[in-house]
Amino acid sequence: MHKKEQIRLLKGLIHHLDNKTNIDAGGIIRTPADTYTSEERFDMEWNTFFQDYPQIVGMSGDLPGPDTFLTTEDFGVPVLAVRDSNGKFKAYANVCAHRGVTVEANKRGEKKRFSCPFHGWTFNNDGELVGYPKKDQFGEIDKACYGLKELPATEKFGFLWVHPSRDGTINFEELLGEDLVKEFESWNFESLVFEHQEEYVTDMNWKLAIDTFGETYHFSVLHKDSLHEVFHGNCQMFDNFNRNGRLILCRRAIDEMRKLPESDWNICAGTLPVYYLFPNIIFMPTQEGAFLVQEYPLENSPHKSVSKISFYFYPHVLEHVKQLEKQGINGKELLQQQYNGFASVIRDEDYVAAASSHKGLKSGNIDYLTFGKNEPALHHYHNTYREALGLQSLPLEKA
Ligand code: FES
Ligand SMILES: [Fe+2]
Repeated sequence: MHKKEQIRLLKGLIHHLDNKTNIDAGGIIRTPADTYTSEERFDMEWNTFFQDYPQIVGMSGDLPGPDTFLTTEDFGVPVLAVRDSNGKFKAYANVCAHRGVTVEANKRGEKKRFSCPFHGWTFNNDGELVGYPKKDQFGEIDKACYGLKELPATEKFGFLWVHPSRDGTINFEELLGEDLVKEFESWNFESLVFEHQEEYVTDMNWKLAIDTFGETYHFSVLHKDSLHEVFHGNCQMFDNFNRNGRLILCRRAIDEMRKLPESDWNICAGTLPVYYLFPNIIFMPTQEGAFLVQEYPLENSPHKSVSKISFYFYPHVLEHVKQLEKQGINGKELLQQQYNGFASVIRDEDYVAAASSHKGLKSGNIDYLTFGKNEPALHHYHNTYREALGLQSLPLEKA
């Protein structure tokens, strides 16, 4: 993030702390319960946001070198994403041209050739059919007509986008907006190294997971014995960038940092930036690396979802861990602490509350969820979501 913007955000938080204020959306909004429970709404979301919208499938660090790959079926279409031998990011439908079987079953790895488990047809990472067994008996076919179907794929600022539809387009400038493009240019997400992934399966609508990252009003209650020790709750900055948003959470470390000259201020030391990338991504850069959270509905249901949490670290952090290990110190424990910390707060506190909220919604005893003046990220998210589905926006009500 550009230094000037870092200072503006840090000063904004300090101002809130000193004046005991918070950002103010100017009113409250209420989103109807069916946002989370309606099957019909779910179908609209699935078709619009997961079948026909560019998807972030991971970070550059998920494909750490030439001839690496990852697969996903999170948004329905089976995808095989690769970094080819020249280092270029490409994506294909992970669908064998012979009889449609999933060609590569592993989640990630290093491989130049992909052999289908059914009859052994083999494809290279340019998607070309390079061989099939028993040609004499099977018959002569034109291999050029039997490649894997290529999907639109773009790698930029360390993010990997794939469009689920072969004739879809990915315009990252349009997706992010001019200001976020400039901001992402100033980070160094390209160098993040993938270390670990976890999955939290929860009985709740996928958007409730996103909602929980959208405010810090709950910190002093839900997280009173955990995050609240590290963060000032109910103190944040928010900006939107087209359909995306950026929430800045206030670390208590800001109390010491503010005593230093501004030239020593650092956004990741004093805060936790939380980028929300439409429609289903939460991305949080830290001083050591970043957390990527991908939210997906499960089982074609508005009532079940999975969060995939990927942990990335900058190379110097991993080098430090390596050095510690060499000295006989358990450096990996430092990484493990992040995985455990994330799980104990997000999975064991936030998602428990969110699943409880879902249960309440499903019971029919709450007609709408209410987002306060101090929760503008959720105002923006829910109205953006509605606009993208062609629904009327939620009015701002005086409060
Ligand atoms: S379905 Fe893939 S080789 Fe037959
Ligand atoms: Fe939380």
